[in-house]
Amino acid sequence: MVLSRLLKLLLVVVVSGATAEASKPDPKLKNLQDIIEAWAPLVWLHPEEVFFPSSVDFHFQHTEVKTSNETVVQTSPDRYTVLTGPDTSDMHLNSVPDLDCPDCLLDWFAGENATPVKVSTYVFIRDYNDSCGTVDVVYRSFYPYNYGKDVCVDWEHYSIRIRNNKVTKCYVSVHSFGASYTWNDTTNNFQFLEGEESRVAIDVINVTYPKTVEVVEGFHAELFSANGSHGLWSQLGTHEYVHFPIHLRDQTERGYPWRTWENLEVVNYDPDTEYEGELHYLGYRGRWGNLKRGCEVFEVVSGECILDSGPGFWRPWPSDFPNDCPDF
Ligand SMILES: *[C@@H]1O[C@H](CO)[C@@H](O)[C@H](O)[C@H]1NC(C)=O
Ligand SMILES: *[C@@H]1O[C@H](CO)[C@@H](O)[C@H](O)[C@H]1NC(C)=O
Ligand SMILES: *[C@@H]1O[C@H](CO)[C@@H](O)[C@H](O)[C@H]1NC(C)=O
Ligand SMILES: *[C@@H]1O[C@H](CO)[C@@H](O)[C@H](O)[C@H]1NC(C)=O
Ligand SMILES: *[C@@H]1O[C@H](CO)[C@@H](O)[C@H](O)[C@H]1NC(C)=O
Repeated sequence: MVLSRLLKLLLVVVVSGATAEASKPDPKLKNLQDIIEAWAPLVWLHPEEVFFPSSVDFHFQHTEVKTSNETVVQTSPDRYTVLTGPDTSDMHLNSVPDLDCPDCLLDWFAGENATPVKVSTYVFIRDYNDSCGTVDVVYRSFYPYNYGKDVCVDWEHYSIRIRNNKVTKCYVSVHSFGASYTWNDTTNNFQFLEGEESRVAIDVINVTYPKTVEVVEGFHAELFSANGSHGLWSQLGTHEYVHFPIHLRDQTERGYPWRTWENLEVVNYDPDTEYEGELHYLGYRGRWGNLKRGCEVFEVVSGECILDSGPGFWRPWPSDFPNDCPDF
Protein backbone atom coordinates (compact mmCIF):
# COMPACT_ATOMS: atom_id res chain seq x y z
CA MET A 1 0.00 0.00 0.00
CA VAL A 2 1.80 3.05 -1.27
CA LEU A 3 0.09 5.59 0.95
CA SER A 4 0.79 3.48 3.99
CA ARG A 5 4.47 3.32 3.16
CA LEU A 6 4.52 7.03 2.64
CA LEU A 7 2.83 7.57 5.96
CA LYS A 8 5.49 5.46 7.62
CA LEU A 9 8.02 7.75 6.08
CA LEU A 10 6.09 10.69 7.45
CA LEU A 11 6.04 9.03 10.81
CA VAL A 12 9.79 8.53 10.84
CA VAL A 13 10.32 12.09 9.73
CA VAL A 14 8.04 13.55 12.36
CA VAL A 15 9.11 11.36 15.23
CA SER A 16 12.83 11.56 14.67
CA GLY A 17 12.72 15.20 13.76
CA ALA A 18 14.84 14.33 10.71
CA THR A 19 14.40 16.26 7.53
CA ALA A 20 12.97 14.75 4.38
CA GLU A 21 15.55 16.37 2.12
CA ALA A 22 16.79 13.06 0.81
CA SER A 23 13.40 11.88 -0.38
CA LYS A 24 11.07 13.52 -2.82
CA PRO A 25 8.21 15.26 -1.06
CA ASP A 26 4.93 13.57 -1.87
CA PRO A 27 2.04 15.98 -2.44
CA LYS A 28 -0.54 13.59 -1.00
CA LEU A 29 1.53 13.06 2.10
CA LYS A 30 2.22 16.73 2.52
CA ASN A 31 -1.49 17.31 2.25
CA LEU A 32 -2.33 14.87 5.04
CA GLN A 33 0.35 16.30 7.29
CA ASP A 34 -0.99 19.78 6.62
CA ILE A 35 -4.51 18.66 7.49
CA ILE A 36 -3.32 17.02 10.71
CA GLU A 37 -1.60 20.21 11.82
CA ALA A 38 -4.26 22.62 10.62
CA TRP A 39 -7.08 20.75 12.39
CA ALA A 40 -5.31 19.82 15.63
CA PRO A 41 -7.36 21.09 18.59
CA LEU A 42 -6.73 24.03 20.89
CA VAL A 43 -7.39 22.57 24.35
CA TRP A 44 -7.98 24.85 27.34
CA LEU A 45 -6.99 23.49 30.74
CA HIS A 46 -8.85 24.82 33.76
CA PRO A 47 -7.16 27.72 35.62
CA GLU A 48 -7.25 25.64 38.84
CA GLU A 49 -6.01 22.45 37.18
CA VAL A 50 -3.34 20.70 39.22
CA PHE A 51 -3.04 17.40 37.31
CA PHE A 52 -1.41 18.37 34.04
CA PRO A 53 -0.82 16.19 30.99
CA SER A 54 2.54 14.60 30.29
CA SER A 55 4.50 12.80 27.64
CA VAL A 56 4.71 9.03 27.60
CA ASP A 57 8.42 9.39 28.44
CA PHE A 58 7.69 11.33 31.61
CA HIS A 59 5.29 8.60 32.75
CA PHE A 60 7.85 5.84 32.10
CA GLN A 61 10.43 7.76 34.15
CA HIS A 62 8.22 7.42 37.20
CA THR A 63 7.05 3.85 36.85
CA GLU A 64 8.20 0.23 36.81
CA VAL A 65 6.59 -2.78 35.14
CA LYS A 66 4.81 -5.17 37.48
CA THR A 67 2.82 -8.36 36.96
CA SER A 68 -0.70 -8.83 38.25
CA ASN A 69 0.72 -10.30 41.48
CA GLU A 70 2.77 -7.11 41.98
CA THR A 71 6.13 -8.70 41.14
CA VAL A 72 8.49 -6.16 39.57
CA VAL A 73 9.59 -7.50 36.18
CA GLN A 74 11.27 -4.38 34.81
CA THR A 75 12.69 -1.34 36.54
CA SER A 76 13.30 1.90 34.63
CA PRO A 77 11.36 1.09 31.47
CA ASP A 78 11.39 3.63 28.67
CA ARG A 79 9.92 3.85 25.21
CA TYR A 80 12.87 1.95 23.69
CA THR A 81 13.08 -0.90 26.18
CA VAL A 82 9.72 -1.48 27.85
CA LEU A 83 8.57 -5.10 27.75
CA THR A 84 6.30 -5.83 24.80
CA GLY A 85 4.18 -8.62 23.37
CA PRO A 86 1.12 -10.64 24.40
CA ASP A 87 2.62 -11.57 27.78
CA THR A 88 2.49 -7.94 28.85
CA SER A 89 -1.29 -7.74 28.64
CA ASP A 90 -1.78 -8.43 32.34
CA MET A 91 1.11 -6.22 33.43
CA HIS A 92 0.89 -2.64 34.61
CA LEU A 93 3.08 0.42 34.99
CA ASN A 94 3.27 0.92 38.72
CA SER A 95 4.20 4.23 40.33
CA VAL A 96 7.62 4.61 41.95
CA PRO A 97 7.34 4.79 44.89
CA ASP A 98 4.27 2.62 45.29
CA LEU A 99 1.22 4.22 46.85
CA ASP A 100 0.53 3.65 50.53
CA CYS A 101 -3.15 4.33 50.08
CA PRO A 102 -5.50 4.51 47.11
CA ASP A 103 -5.91 8.27 47.32
CA CYS A 104 -2.30 9.11 48.16
CA LEU A 105 -0.67 11.58 45.82
CA LEU A 106 2.86 11.76 44.47
CA ASP A 107 4.40 14.99 43.25
CA TRP A 108 4.77 13.75 39.70
CA PHE A 109 1.01 13.19 39.37
CA ALA A 110 1.02 16.90 38.61
CA GLY A 111 2.31 15.91 35.15
CA GLU A 112 4.49 18.23 33.15
CA ASN A 113 3.29 21.55 34.37
CA ALA A 114 4.59 24.07 31.90
CA THR A 115 2.46 26.98 30.78
CA PRO A 116 1.63 27.43 28.06
CA VAL A 117 1.24 23.66 27.83
CA LYS A 118 3.76 22.08 25.46
CA VAL A 119 3.62 18.31 25.95
CA SER A 120 3.20 15.92 23.04
CA THR A 121 -0.12 14.96 21.56
CA TYR A 122 -0.03 11.49 20.00
CA VAL A 123 -1.68 11.33 16.60
CA PHE A 124 -2.85 8.00 15.20
CA ILE A 125 -3.78 7.76 11.53
CA ARG A 126 -6.12 5.16 10.09
CA ASP A 127 -6.27 5.01 6.32
CA TYR A 128 -9.22 2.83 5.24
CA ASN A 129 -7.87 2.60 1.70
CA ASP A 130 -11.40 2.87 0.31
CA SER A 131 -12.71 4.64 -2.79
CA CYS A 132 -14.00 7.56 -0.67
CA GLY A 133 -10.50 8.43 0.51
CA THR A 134 -11.51 7.85 4.11
CA VAL A 135 -8.84 8.59 6.70
CA ASP A 136 -9.41 9.01 10.44
CA VAL A 137 -7.02 11.00 12.58
CA VAL A 138 -7.10 10.53 16.36
CA TYR A 139 -5.40 13.09 18.63
CA ARG A 140 -4.60 11.50 21.98
CA SER A 141 -3.35 13.20 25.07
CA PHE A 142 -2.05 11.53 28.19
CA TYR A 143 -2.55 12.52 31.82
CA PRO A 144 -0.65 10.63 34.56
CA TYR A 145 -3.44 11.26 37.05
CA ASN A 146 -7.13 11.99 37.18
CA TYR A 147 -8.68 13.49 40.25
CA GLY A 148 -11.53 11.34 41.49
CA LYS A 149 -10.28 8.37 39.56
CA ASP A 150 -7.60 7.55 42.11
CA VAL A 151 -4.61 5.88 40.53
CA CYS A 152 -6.19 5.58 37.12
CA VAL A 153 -4.28 7.22 34.34
CA ASP A 154 -6.06 8.69 31.44
CA TRP A 155 -5.90 8.90 27.67
CA GLU A 156 -8.34 11.42 26.24
CA HIS A 157 -9.02 11.87 22.55
CA TYR A 158 -10.45 13.99 19.78
CA SER A 159 -10.84 12.63 16.22
CA ILE A 160 -11.52 13.90 12.75
CA ARG A 161 -12.82 12.03 9.71
CA ILE A 162 -11.28 12.97 6.37
CA ARG A 163 -12.85 12.18 3.00
CA ASN A 164 -10.81 12.92 -0.12
CA ASN A 165 -8.61 15.37 1.77
CA LYS A 166 -11.53 17.25 3.27
CA VAL A 167 -12.49 17.16 6.94
CA THR A 168 -16.12 16.04 7.23
CA LYS A 169 -16.69 15.13 10.91
CA CYS A 170 -15.22 15.29 14.36
CA TYR A 171 -15.71 13.35 17.57
CA VAL A 172 -15.19 14.77 21.05
CA SER A 173 -14.63 12.13 23.74
CA VAL A 174 -15.83 13.05 27.19
CA HIS A 175 -15.18 10.03 29.37
CA SER A 176 -16.54 6.64 28.36
CA PHE A 177 -18.90 8.45 26.00
CA GLY A 178 -18.80 11.31 23.52
CA ALA A 179 -20.44 13.02 20.57
CA SER A 180 -19.86 13.39 16.86
CA TYR A 181 -20.30 16.53 14.79
CA THR A 182 -20.50 17.31 11.08
CA TRP A 183 -18.48 20.05 9.43
CA ASN A 184 -20.61 22.81 7.88
CA ASP A 185 -18.95 25.00 5.24
CA THR A 186 -21.59 27.70 5.53
CA THR A 187 -21.40 28.24 9.26
CA ASN A 188 -17.70 27.35 9.44
CA ASN A 189 -18.10 25.11 12.46
CA PHE A 190 -18.98 21.53 13.37
CA GLN A 191 -22.65 20.92 14.12
CA PHE A 192 -23.96 18.26 16.48
CA LEU A 193 -24.77 14.94 14.83
CA GLU A 194 -25.23 12.40 17.61
CA GLY A 195 -24.13 11.75 21.16
CA GLU A 196 -23.72 8.67 23.32
CA GLU A 197 -25.51 8.23 26.61
CA SER A 198 -23.54 8.23 29.83
CA ARG A 199 -24.02 4.68 31.15
CA VAL A 200 -22.71 4.25 34.61
CA ALA A 201 -23.94 1.73 37.13
CA ILE A 202 -27.70 2.14 37.33
CA ASP A 203 -27.63 5.64 35.92
CA VAL A 204 -28.17 6.13 32.19
CA ILE A 205 -28.50 9.73 31.15
CA ASN A 206 -28.78 11.59 27.91
CA VAL A 207 -25.85 13.94 28.24
CA THR A 208 -26.55 17.49 27.14
CA TYR A 209 -23.83 17.95 24.56
CA PRO A 210 -22.83 21.34 23.18
CA LYS A 211 -24.55 21.96 19.82
CA THR A 212 -21.42 22.99 17.99
CA VAL A 213 -17.66 22.67 17.99
CA GLU A 214 -16.17 26.03 17.05
CA VAL A 215 -12.84 26.45 15.30
CA VAL A 216 -10.34 29.17 16.19
CA GLU A 217 -6.97 30.41 14.88
CA GLY A 218 -7.81 28.80 11.54
CA PHE A 219 -9.40 25.37 11.83
CA HIS A 220 -8.39 24.35 15.34
CA ALA A 221 -11.35 22.99 17.31
CA GLU A 222 -11.64 24.86 20.60
CA LEU A 223 -11.99 22.26 23.36
CA PHE A 224 -12.06 22.47 27.13
CA SER A 225 -10.44 19.87 29.38
CA ALA A 226 -12.45 19.55 32.57
CA ASN A 227 -10.78 20.42 35.87
CA GLY A 228 -9.21 17.28 37.32
CA SER A 229 -11.18 14.75 35.29
CA HIS A 230 -9.95 15.89 31.85
CA GLY A 231 -13.17 15.07 29.98
CA LEU A 232 -13.28 17.13 26.79
CA TRP A 233 -16.16 19.50 26.05
CA SER A 234 -16.59 21.99 23.23
CA GLN A 235 -18.29 24.61 25.37
CA LEU A 236 -17.46 26.51 28.54
CA GLY A 237 -19.34 25.88 31.75
CA THR A 238 -20.50 23.01 33.94
CA HIS A 239 -21.49 19.69 32.37
CA GLU A 240 -23.21 17.02 34.41
CA TYR A 241 -22.89 13.44 33.25
CA VAL A 242 -24.00 11.33 36.23
CA HIS A 243 -27.05 12.17 38.39
CA PHE A 244 -27.26 9.23 40.72
CA PRO A 245 -26.11 7.97 43.21
CA ILE A 246 -23.66 10.86 43.13
CA HIS A 247 -23.50 13.91 40.94
CA LEU A 248 -20.53 14.08 38.65
CA ARG A 249 -19.94 17.39 36.99
CA ASP A 250 -17.17 18.63 34.78
CA GLN A 251 -16.07 22.23 35.19
CA THR A 252 -14.43 23.96 32.24
CA GLU A 253 -12.83 27.36 31.84
CA ARG A 254 -10.30 29.12 29.66
CA GLY A 255 -7.23 28.68 31.86
CA TYR A 256 -4.09 27.45 30.12
CA PRO A 257 -4.08 27.16 26.33
CA TRP A 258 -2.62 24.01 24.79
CA ARG A 259 -1.95 24.50 21.09
CA THR A 260 -1.52 20.84 20.33
CA TRP A 261 -0.24 21.41 16.79
CA GLU A 262 2.99 22.83 18.25
CA ASN A 263 4.00 19.34 19.42
CA LEU A 264 2.46 16.41 17.56
CA GLU A 265 3.90 12.89 17.44
CA VAL A 266 2.33 11.31 14.39
CA VAL A 267 2.00 7.53 14.39
CA ASN A 268 0.74 5.61 11.38
CA TYR A 269 -0.11 2.65 13.56
CA ASP A 270 -0.17 -0.79 12.06
CA PRO A 271 -1.30 -3.46 14.54
CA ASP A 272 0.79 -6.12 12.77
CA THR A 273 4.08 -4.27 13.06
CA GLU A 274 6.54 -4.85 15.89
CA TYR A 275 8.01 -1.42 16.21
CA GLU A 276 11.59 -0.75 17.19
CA GLY A 277 13.21 2.47 18.32
CA GLU A 278 11.00 5.33 19.38
CA LEU A 279 7.80 3.41 18.69
CA HIS A 280 8.89 0.22 20.43
CA TYR A 281 6.60 1.05 23.37
CA LEU A 282 3.52 0.57 21.18
CA GLY A 283 4.07 -3.17 21.65
CA TYR A 284 3.43 -2.89 25.39
CA ARG A 285 -0.06 -4.29 25.98
CA GLY A 286 -0.57 -3.71 29.69
CA ARG A 287 -2.22 -1.04 31.76
CA TRP A 288 -0.70 2.38 32.16
CA GLY A 289 -1.30 2.80 35.87
CA ASN A 290 -1.21 1.00 39.20
CA LEU A 291 -3.56 -1.92 39.69
CA LYS A 292 -6.99 -0.69 40.56
CA ARG A 293 -7.21 -0.23 44.26
CA GLY A 294 -9.73 1.99 45.88
CA CYS A 295 -10.89 2.77 42.40
CA GLU A 296 -13.58 0.19 42.91
CA VAL A 297 -16.08 2.38 44.72
CA PHE A 298 -15.72 5.16 42.25
CA GLU A 299 -15.72 2.75 39.36
CA VAL A 300 -19.08 1.34 40.31
CA VAL A 301 -20.67 4.73 40.06
CA SER A 302 -18.69 6.19 37.22
CA GLY A 303 -17.35 3.27 35.22
CA GLU A 304 -14.26 5.31 34.62
CA CYS A 305 -11.52 3.18 36.00
CA ILE A 306 -12.49 0.45 33.58
CA LEU A 307 -12.03 2.92 30.79
CA ASP A 308 -8.88 4.48 32.04
CA SER A 309 -6.76 1.52 32.95
CA GLY A 310 -5.20 1.77 29.55
CA PRO A 311 -6.62 -0.68 27.02
CA GLY A 312 -7.76 2.23 24.89
CA PHE A 313 -4.20 2.64 23.77
CA TRP A 314 -4.13 -0.80 22.23
CA ARG A 315 -7.07 -0.03 20.08
CA PRO A 316 -5.61 3.19 18.79
CA TRP A 317 -8.52 3.56 16.38
CA PRO A 318 -11.61 3.99 18.48
CA SER A 319 -14.81 3.38 16.50
CA ASP A 320 -15.81 7.02 16.61
CA PHE A 321 -17.36 7.08 13.15
CA PRO A 322 -19.01 4.29 11.20
CA ASN A 323 -17.52 3.98 7.70
CA ASP A 324 -20.40 4.15 5.22
CA CYS A 325 -18.23 4.14 2.11
CA PRO A 326 -19.89 1.63 -0.27
CA ASP A 327 -16.72 -0.33 -1.02
CA PHE A 328 -15.47 -0.55 2.56
C1 LIG B 1 -5.76 -0.38 -1.36
O1 LIG B 1 -6.72 -0.19 -2.38
C2 LIG B 1 -6.25 -0.51 -3.67
C3 LIG B 1 -7.38 -0.22 -4.65
O2 LIG B 1 -7.99 1.01 -4.36
C4 LIG B 1 -5.84 -1.98 -3.73
O3 LIG B 1 -5.30 -2.27 -5.00
C5 LIG B 1 -4.82 -2.25 -2.65
O4 LIG B 1 -4.52 -3.63 -2.61
C6 LIG B 1 -5.31 -1.83 -1.30
N1 LIG B 1 -4.29 -2.02 -0.32
C7 LIG B 1 -4.53 -2.54 0.88
C8 LIG B 1 -3.35 -2.65 1.77
O5 LIG B 1 -5.64 -2.88 1.26
C1 LIG C 1 4.20 -13.80 40.43
O1 LIG C 1 4.41 -13.68 39.04
C2 LIG C 1 5.71 -14.04 38.62
C3 LIG C 1 5.85 -13.70 37.15
O2 LIG C 1 4.66 -14.03 36.45
C4 LIG C 1 5.94 -15.51 38.93
O3 LIG C 1 7.24 -15.89 38.54
C5 LIG C 1 5.78 -15.73 40.42
O4 LIG C 1 5.87 -17.11 40.71
C6 LIG C 1 4.44 -15.22 40.92
N1 LIG C 1 4.41 -15.23 42.38
C7 LIG C 1 3.38 -15.67 43.05
C8 LIG C 1 3.50 -15.59 44.54
O5 LIG C 1 2.36 -16.09 42.53
C1 LIG D 1 -25.21 24.27 7.45
O1 LIG D 1 -25.79 25.11 8.40
C2 LIG D 1 -26.87 25.86 7.87
C3 LIG D 1 -27.29 26.87 8.95
O2 LIG D 1 -27.53 26.21 10.17
C4 LIG D 1 -27.98 24.92 7.48
O3 LIG D 1 -29.07 25.65 6.95
C5 LIG D 1 -27.46 23.94 6.46
O4 LIG D 1 -28.45 22.96 6.18
C6 LIG D 1 -26.22 23.26 6.97
N1 LIG D 1 -25.63 22.46 5.91
C7 LIG D 1 -25.41 21.15 6.03
C8 LIG D 1 -24.80 20.49 4.85
O5 LIG D 1 -25.70 20.55 7.04
C1 LIG E 1 -32.53 9.43 25.78
O1 LIG E 1 -33.15 9.96 24.62
C2 LIG E 1 -33.78 8.99 23.81
C3 LIG E 1 -34.29 9.68 22.55
O2 LIG E 1 -34.93 10.87 22.85
C4 LIG E 1 -34.90 8.29 24.58
O3 LIG E 1 -35.49 7.29 23.78
C5 LIG E 1 -34.29 7.65 25.83
O4 LIG E 1 -35.31 7.10 26.62
C6 LIG E 1 -33.54 8.71 26.65
N1 LIG E 1 -32.86 8.04 27.75
C7 LIG E 1 -32.87 8.52 28.98
C8 LIG E 1 -32.12 7.71 29.98
O5 LIG E 1 -33.45 9.55 29.30
C1 LIG F 1 -10.24 22.20 40.41
O1 LIG F 1 -9.62 21.03 40.88
C2 LIG F 1 -8.82 21.23 42.04
C3 LIG F 1 -8.18 19.92 42.44
O2 LIG F 1 -8.23 18.95 41.47
C4 LIG F 1 -9.67 21.75 43.17
O3 LIG F 1 -8.85 22.04 44.29
C5 LIG F 1 -10.41 23.00 42.73
O4 LIG F 1 -11.32 23.41 43.75
C6 LIG F 1 -11.19 22.75 41.46
N1 LIG F 1 -11.80 23.99 41.00
C7 LIG F 1 -13.08 24.05 40.59
C8 LIG F 1 -13.59 25.36 40.16
O5 LIG F 1 -13.80 23.04 40.56
